[in-house]
Amino acid sequence: MIGGGIAAYKCLDLIRRLDEHGVAVRCVLTAAAKELVSPLAVAALSHGKVFDELFSLTDEAEMGHIRLSREADLVVVAPATADLLAKMANGLADDLASTLLLATDKPVLVAPAMNPRMWAHPATRRNVERLRADGVTILGPAAGDTACGEVGTGRMVEPTELVEAILARLRAGPRPLAGLRALVTSGPTHEPIDPVRFIANRSSGRQGHAIAAALARAGAEVTLVSGPVTIPDPEGVRTVHVETAREMAEACLAALPVDIAVCAAAVADWRPEEVPAHKIKKMPGGPPPTLRLAENPDILATLARHPTARPRLVVGFAAETGDLETEARAKMAKKGCDWILANDVSEGTTVFGGARNRILLITGDGPAEAWPELAKEEVARRLVERIAAMFAGGRS
Ligand code: C5P
Repeated sequence: MIGGGIAAYKCLDLIRRLDEHGVAVRCVLTAAAKELVSPLAVAALSHGKVFDELFSLTDEAEMGHIRLSREADLVVVAPATADLLAKMANGLADDLASTLLLATDKPVLVAPAMNPRMWAHPATRRNVERLRADGVTILGPAAGDTACGEVGTGRMVEPTELVEAILARLRAGPRPLAGLRALVTSGPTHEPIDPVRFIANRSSGRQGHAIAAALARAGAEVTLVSGPVTIPDPEGVRTVHVETAREMAEACLAALPVDIAVCAAAVADWRPEEVPAHKIKKMPGGPPPTLRLAENPDILATLARHPTARPRLVVGFAAETGDLETEARAKMAKKGCDWILANDVSEGTTVFGGARNRILLITGDGPAEAWPELAKEEVARRLVERIAAMFAGGRS
């Protein structure tokens, strides 16, 4: 998709370079792009027809716009103008390019290009955040001189860099979980005591986020429900941000049906029963307030025992300090999940908030599998490998 920015001229170079790498390119021009770059040149370089009219009867008869949006392995929008980003973020479909973007089920890579102030505008920031949350990959823009004479961030990344990113996507390994939907919970929950205070824990979200990213790389359509964390949303994943356990439970139920659920969040077991609308005042000489706690919903057990939409595979974590295997097997039975990744969080271990994890994987009645201490990304990769084997009909 070529948008109507000055950087559209760079697309000719991009198409030529992709062609040199043996990538078949099919181009769609917006009306504004046609003013900036010759459709004839685009057609010549891409060795084919250029698409630009939503309601062209011959095109619709030859190839409906839905098909056009599904036949590609990857959809690239370059340059993506502020207007095109806004349309994408809001699901508008009033021309061929925006209609294809709404109808596609393929990964979308976007290279924005615009005036630096337009890029910095809160409206564009919102749109970009929303697109990231929808799983769109945003590449650039780069800093430097822009065509309008202002210096700042707004230049489209160079075609060479775009080619690298496109080839990396196309070469991305096998996608054994393509066509499957997954739900992952991650991070801590915050349970409010009053408008400014809350109960929390030390979970960083690193393990859950790594699992969501690995599932997405394996081709699954992933919803990540994350409590408050400071790490970025993973690429290619729909991330839903929540604060409390009850919000997390609600977001998880809303994400159903899914094939795979991995509950990696450190959900608070309890919440203060009543949350006053005003900050609790410290009374000089008075007694400290007493917090009455109520039990939070158990998300893992709720998913594993769902009466109508139980995922085919439900995976939980067990952070234990005692006899790992016995505790984990008991937890598996209590919660009704299929697999458990148990880890030791005794004093001296740094699993919570740390970068590494030592896992004992329990997948049923068979023997537990002890993994060596691994980076959380590697734990995620191994878990996804096991999930892929199970869905391929292998041992579970
Ligand atoms: O009961 P416990 O917190 O030890 O269980 C850990 C497992 O249960 C983790 O997979 C965690 O994500 C999940 N869990 C949950 N909802 C809760 C408590 C735990 O999903 N309220």
